[in-house]
Amino acid sequence: MTPEQFRGLFPALGQWAWLDTPGAPPGAAPVTEVLRSTLDDWATGLFDWSDWDHAADHARTEFAAYAMVPPSHVSSLGSLSEAFTTVLSGVHQGNIVVAADEFRSVLFPAMARGRADTVNVRVVERTPGRSRTEDLLAAIDRSTALVAASEVITLDGERVDIEQLADAAHAVGAQFFANLTQTMGVLRTDLSNLGADFTAVHGYKWMLCPRGTTWLVGDPAGTWNPEPLAPSWKTTGPPEHYFGGRYQVAQDATRWNTSPAWFSWIGARAALKLLTQLPARDVADHCLHLADRFTAEATDLGFRSRNNGRRSHIVTIDPPEGITLQPASLTAQHVKATLSDGGFRAGFHYFNNIADVDAALQVLRSSITGHEQG
Ligand SMILES: Cc1ncc(COP(=O)(O)O)c(C=O)c1O
Repeated sequence: MTPEQFRGLFPALGQWAWLDTPGAPPGAAPVTEVLRSTLDDWATGLFDWSDWDHAADHARTEFAAYAMVPPSHVSSLGSLSEAFTTVLSGVHQGNIVVAADEFRSVLFPAMARGRADTVNVRVVERTPGRSRTEDLLAAIDRSTALVAASEVITLDGERVDIEQLADAAHAVGAQFFANLTQTMGVLRTDLSNLGADFTAVHGYKWMLCPRGTTWLVGDPAGTWNPEPLAPSWKTTGPPEHYFGGRYQVAQDATRWNTSPAWFSWIGARAALKLLTQLPARDVADHCLHLADRFTAEATDLGFRSRNNGRRSHIVTIDPPEGITLQPASLTAQHVKATLSDGGFRAGFHYFNNIADVDAALQVLRSSITGHEQG
């Protein structure tokens, strides 16, 4: 599928230069259509709830095929923080290494786990001008039990070196957790050689799913044995029973499942079907190319990228001294992007094109011109 064909599946892109996928993308027609027909079925009573109930498990095996990992290593949960909290139950002693400016669904579960008697959190303060990868690598030592990192966070758009961190963690006998919420679907699809012991992704951003669709990938027979966060009828494996019985957990990774929000997973199945039609390598190249082009031209205008490490498809830039970006200039250019902490954040998906880059640059130019005129 070409970028133009893909773009044609998003009605919102007729109105907007959509650079806010780091927050949320617009709905893809195959996803919104299946959700709409599900609502119709609900309203008319033409549904079988058990079909809806199977959607999460179908999506789980479809994700496994997409990510090229064994289905027995994949569980389905509602959010990234749930997935990471599950993993953390496997840490019984030692240090958890996490960057001080991590996304809070990674940072806060680690801090909460650090309140246990035998577990500490090493919150790695950032060194100005240094990459997050370098700061984390410097903090790993023999006391480390777990290193956790998001591959990209929107604060600066740095692409952390997952493979290098996993190697460094393993060299001291620690485990590594990777959060791919901001990269899976664009910079990554194949997780078969990732090197992380546990990987999680919330599918509502680059994977185009509704919210509430998170996959956790890990070997259920690995050295750690995390506990289900919320044991239920969904954590036992088949056959599913509702009432009574002895406590048990599934042999495979479904033991980490949480009870599914049906409609979200129905949408996730449609999103996965769409994603599997995209040429993975071209998608990554396309998104990085647009991000590079935007960064280069924004830099020429005097904006500064916050990224001190490897580039990604997400660019967060700060304006030149004395310039303030105005939300109204986004609306005027029909640009959907986020202004945060005085900076401008843009994320590039396969549906974006060079006209979107130009529209974003126009927002930056107009803020400079507006300043000069004011
Ligand atoms: C890096 C990253 N991870 C995870 C999430 C979502 O976390 P959760 O699923 O806990 O809401 C976001 C949302 O912006 C994010 O940017």
